[in-house]
Order: sequence, then structure tokens, then C-alpha cells
Amino acid sequence: MGVPKTSWFWVVFVVALNTATLCNGGVSSSFVRKVEKSVDMHLDSDVFRVPTGYNAPQQVHITQGDHEGKAVIVSWVTMDEPGSNTVEYWSDGRHQKLKANGSVTTYTFYNYTSGFIHHCSITNLNYNTKYHYQVGMGNSVRSFWFITPPEVGPDVPYTFGLIGDLGQTYDSNKTLTHYELNPTKGQTVLFVGDLSYADNYPDHDNTRWDTWARFVERSVAYQPWIWTPGNHEIDFAPEIVSGSAMLFSACSTVMFWITIGYLCLFLMVDIDL
Ligand SMILES: *[C@@H]1O[C@H](CO)[C@@H](O)[C@H](O)[C@H]1NC(C)=O
Ligand SMILES: *[C@@H]1O[C@H](CO)[C@@H](O)[C@H](O)[C@H]1NC(C)=O
Ligand SMILES: *[C@@H]1O[C@H](CO)[C@@H](O)[C@H](O)[C@H]1NC(C)=O
Repeated sequence: MGVPKTSWFWVVFVVALNTATLCNGGVSSSFVRKVEKSVDMHLDSDVFRVPTGYNAPQQVHITQGDHEGKAVIVSWVTMDEPGSNTVEYWSDGRHQKLKANGSVTTYTFYNYTSGFIHHCSITNLNYNTKYHYQVGMGNSVRSFWFITPPEVGPDVPYTFGLIGDLGQTYDSNKTLTHYELNPTKGQTVLFVGDLSYADNYPDHDNTRWDTWARFVERSVAYQPWIWTPGNHEIDFAPEIVSGSAMLFSACSTVMFWITIGYLCLFLMVDIDL
């Protein structure tokens, strides 16, 4: 998305999906971000903190894993060694843990070498169910949860947050906090492009992808964000295939419901002008 000279476009609003009709949820906050561009958070900021423990999974996030809402892809990064590929998961109230194995990969970009990037699909989930999941090994196991969407049908309410151009400035943190504190709780975020703004750094310093992913983990590990690449991602071309796109799947590959597919398509047409 183009960045106007004087302000970073930002918007967070919530829409309710009512069968095939997209309804505006109204203005839910009077907050307006200040016009001046704010600076990136310092590398030692609390939001970028590396989780404690040897090889602890970081940058944990989930993505919708199929068209029906019965699968989720769990992604995370380990820094010291590949470690375990396994996700353990169980539905709320059940103690029997199920396991799924994923894959691991790495990439390099200029003089940057990524950590070990893990992706693991968990499938055959029940609708509208809270699942707990764990990644990591030994003392570095980390636990998260998510709720699967309801079965598709007429009059099924579902609430999307819409966020774009997030970046990793002090204002980005405010934007994310506003989304989290909104009384109308979003269940999934449609992210309309321009994630980390790592491309503002020399050689697109990809450590700023790592910091960004640690920053947003507090939301993206618990609810899927549907990613649309913006021009700040497309800048990576032709390396995009081995760069950011590998960590954050775009909506073209992981679609949600058909209606969202349409919306996604619209958003993709609308970006990068
Ligand atoms: C996952 O990997 C572990 C270790 O390699 C193996 O023992 C287990 O059978 C695998 N599980 C599945 C479901 O493939
Ligand atoms: C990569 O190059 C940049 C600029 O030359 C330098 O600041 C940075 O420390 C280098 N990073 C690594 C991992 O070598
Ligand atoms: C980011 O926001 C959270 C509140 O949501 C706060 O706890 C944290 O200190 C903030 N960090 C920075 C660097 O602004």
C-alpha cells in the first residue's frame, strides 16, 4: 500500500460477516493515530524480546489451513538448531494430546541467514472449538491456543479485524493494542499488506522480519491473520519466494471461506499503487 508522505495510512475496523452480505460494524473507536510518522521500536524493546530457554520457539503464528476452517498451519522459528517439528494439540477439556509433524526450512538474504522456520498443519479439527497447542522441547516448550471458526452456514456471525501497513513503530504497537482492546473481539484478521517494513533498512535487513514476527506473536499465535502482500513485501521480488512469503503465507495460497476469497482478491487488486 502506498505510504502517503505525511501520514501512515492505518485503519482498524471490525466487520461482521452475515451470510453473503458484508456489514459495516460501525465506528467502534474515536482513536485516530497522530499524523507524524513515528520511528521503529528499538531492538531492545519489550515487544521484541526473545523467549527464554534454549532454542525456544519464537515468532509463533497460525494460518487457516484449509477452505472449511478445519485445519490450521502452525509456524514458528527456532534459532539455535532445528529442534522438534512436532506440534502437540488438544481440544479444551480433553487431556489426550494429539501430535502432528511439520517441516523445517531456512533461507538466506544478502548477509542474513534465517533461523529454522517450521510449518506444521494440523487437520481434522472440529468447528467452533478451542484448541491448545504446544511447540518446542524440554524446558523451552511454549503453549498457545486458538478457536476454530464455526461451520459455514446461513446467519453464522464471525468478526474480522482489518489491519494494514502495521510496521514496527511505537504507533504500530498502539494500533495492535487498540485492536486487542476493542470490545468487539475480532476472531481473524484480514491483513491488507505491508507487514514489517524491513525493506526500509539496508539490504532489507531481515532481522527486522524476526523482530516484527516476535512483536505480533501476541495476536497471531492465537488467531489466524490472513496475509495479503503489499508493495513492501513485493519489493523482495524475486527473492520473495524465499523471503517473507515463506514465513507468512499470503491469502492466495491459504484461503478462508469463499466470500473471504473474494474479499481477498479485491484487496490484492487494490494494493501497491
Ligand atoms: C513424528 O515424528 C516423530 C519423530 O521423528 C515420529 O516418531 C512420529 O511417528 C511422527 N509422527 C507422525 C504422526 O508422523
Ligand atoms: C550485514 O551487513 C550489515 C551492513 O554491512 C551489517 O551492519 C550487519 O552487521 C551484517 N550482518 C551480519 C549478520 O553479518
Ligand atoms: C507495547 O504495548 C504494550 C501494551 O499493549 C506495552 O505493554 C508495551 O510496553 C509496549 N511496548 C512498546 C515498546 O511500546
